Amino acid sequence: MGYQVILPAAGKGKRMGAGKNKLFIEINHVPVFIHTLRIFDQDENCNEIFLSIHPDDREEMSSFIKKYSIQKKLTFVIGGAERQHSVYNALQKIEGESIVLVHDAARPFIQKPFIDKLVQTAERLGASVLAVPVKDTIKKVENGIVIETVERSSLWAIQTPQAFRVSLLLKAHAFAKENAYLGTDDASLVEYMGEKVAIVEGDYNNIKLTTPEDLAFANAILQEQNKQS
Ligand code: CTP
Ligand code: MG
Repeated sequence: MGYQVILPAAGKGKRMGAGKNKLFIEINHVPVFIHTLRIFDQDENCNEIFLSIHPDDREEMSSFIKKYSIQKKLTFVIGGAERQHSVYNALQKIEGESIVLVHDAARPFIQKPFIDKLVQTAERLGASVLAVPVKDTIKKVENGIVIETVERSSLWAIQTPQAFRVSLLLKAHAFAKENAYLGTDDASLVEYMGEKVAIVEGDYNNIKLTTPEDLAFANAILQEQNKQS
């Protein structure tokens, strides 16, 4: 049941337009990435955290980690130009054949029951991702004209965390690198090798903070979660 987690945090947050890495934005007076770190800090199944960062953010992140007394063993890794590179760099530091989770530092609302289910599924099947059924009707469009309406019942919006046997994710990243394949998530690299990825149904509150309007949702979700706990 134990796992190690890689948290890619080395982005710039361009779409958020905050003039700094969006992970420093505070929700209820606490930086986004600290909300995320706290969840793994408090999960007894989490053995170690690898935080992929931009070198410019190192000092500020370190001081917040001290300020908020994150206790778990935490290793900084220098990230790369793309998210995939940031994960790859952290993956090189992982030892042992257990389960590795990859989770966007920009998704601060993940909750333990979903992590547990995800890890159990990866232990059984090798690779698992959290996902929710798509609510909107999705159409394929070219040059402003609808080409096709995609059958909704087979569409899932994929989130993180994503969980893998360490050896499988290492192999997938190496294979993608060899073939200059760039995916938008880690599961896609496993799929690219022809291996199966299982879906675990997650919840709609596990949003990624991407654009400014997400911050209003973030405050509402946090209030709701605080009421429950
Ligand atoms: N990330 C990373 N290394 C990169 C790019 C992104 O570790 N080279 C991380 C981000 O910090 C974030 C997660 O991957 O936690 C998901 O990426 P995204 O939401 O796209 O964040 P940013 O890349 O920072 O935002 P943007 O694309 O708007 O610049
Ligand atoms: Mg990005």
